[in-house]
Amino acid sequence: MADTEPVINKGLEGIYFAESSICKVDGQAGKLYYRGYSIEELCGNSDFSEVSYLLLNDKLPNGNELEGFRQQLADERYLPKSVVDFIKENSMRMHPMDTLRSAVSMLPAYDTEAYDNSPGSNMRKSVKLISKSASIAATIGRVRSGGDYVMPDQSMGHVESFLYMLNGRKPDPKTVKILDVMFIVHAEHSSNASTFGVIVAGSTLADIYAATTAGIAVLKGPLHGGADEAALEMMYNIGDPDNTEKYIEDALAGKQKIMGFGHRVYKTYDPRARIVKGYLEDLQTNGSGELKNLSQIALRAEKLMIDKLGASKGIWPNIDFFAGPVYVSLGIQHEIFTPIFAASRMSGWCAHMLEYWKNNRLLRPLEKYTGQVDLKYVRIEDRK
Ligand SMILES: CC(C)(COP(=O)(O)OP(=O)(O)OC[C@H]1O[C@@H](n2cnc3c(N)ncnc32)[C@H](O)[C@@H]1OP(=O)(O)O)[C@@H](O)C(=O)NCCC(=O)NCCS
Repeated sequence: MADTEPVINKGLEGIYFAESSICKVDGQAGKLYYRGYSIEELCGNSDFSEVSYLLLNDKLPNGNELEGFRQQLADERYLPKSVVDFIKENSMRMHPMDTLRSAVSMLPAYDTEAYDNSPGSNMRKSVKLISKSASIAATIGRVRSGGDYVMPDQSMGHVESFLYMLNGRKPDPKTVKILDVMFIVHAEHSSNASTFGVIVAGSTLADIYAATTAGIAVLKGPLHGGADEAALEMMYNIGDPDNTEKYIEDALAGKQKIMGFGHRVYKTYDPRARIVKGYLEDLQTNGSGELKNLSQIALRAEKLMIDKLGASKGIWPNIDFFAGPVYVSLGIQHEIFTPIFAASRMSGWCAHMLEYWKNNRLLRPLEKYTGQVDLKYVRIEDRK
């Protein structure tokens, strides 16, 4: 019987590979839910630590549970000396995402239960990864701007401590609040490319350090996590708000993709982008100098892109378009935007791994072979 012709779903578009109760992305209605709670509900009421607990445990914590979880995050914040030394030695020689990936993959060396794949151990390692990835991202930023490792302060909250380790001084509450929202909106997004990469690695029963390290590698690219830095670079290239429309028109005419727009699932406005855009509108009104310029460029580019491609092609702004100017307004350097994304997404990656391992099956899709068969080997001296 002849083989049936396989259907190829390029980019795995439209393919379901598992069930999950972690996150719902409703790409038609423009809604996002973590464990049933809308992203607006969580950004308005919660914080990243509590959201991480929710993602990992499938319920909001009670007071004691939350206090315990915050304490576990605080206890795990310090970095081993050799990880700090590695960052100091290498972070100027490679992309911060490469430094982050390598530093995270050193962590099993300091974990006596690194290869214990039991659920309890994986939950403890998840907390360690969420905590330490933020410390690593902060230390990369700190070292790249000429500073030294800052010992974490255990009395601080997770995002407050991140900023403290990045800048060496206690941050103001407004900055902490805005960055906390940025951490929440980046924490989870169902089976996006990096989460899928994590699950592919974990489905081999590689440990959670190996799996999340794979996630960092996948997140790096400009079609995924790297889009925020690329979008900001475009805004700097535009320079003057009055150049915005011509720049975008020319780029589209040249068939270039505008970074920070489009999404495989959202065919309407990304609800995370709407939340982050609120901060830009504030900057446009109350900011000055570079920040005012950047916010004007971003908002003019958004309007033009929606007019041209929104309804007609379903290309709308995604979260990465507005994230860059907001980070700039918080004094965060460009090259650690994607490491911050990774440190936030660590919660979602770990939640997915804990869930997938309850019903694990090796992920192994097929390719349709288009090459030849039964070729005869030709000895090297007989080849042309
Ligand atoms: C996110 C992304 C990879 C989704 O891609 P996808 O579902 O595979 O869609 P495709 O890349 O196949 O694009 C489909 C069509 O929309 C166009 N398109 C998609 N994103 C576009 C963008 N940002 N700017 C201009 N055109 C875009 C493509 O050129 C293509 O047009 P065509 O049909 O005329 O060839 C894509 O939209 C993109 O590259 N965006 C920029 C990077 C980015 O912001 N990534 C972060 C995502 S959260």
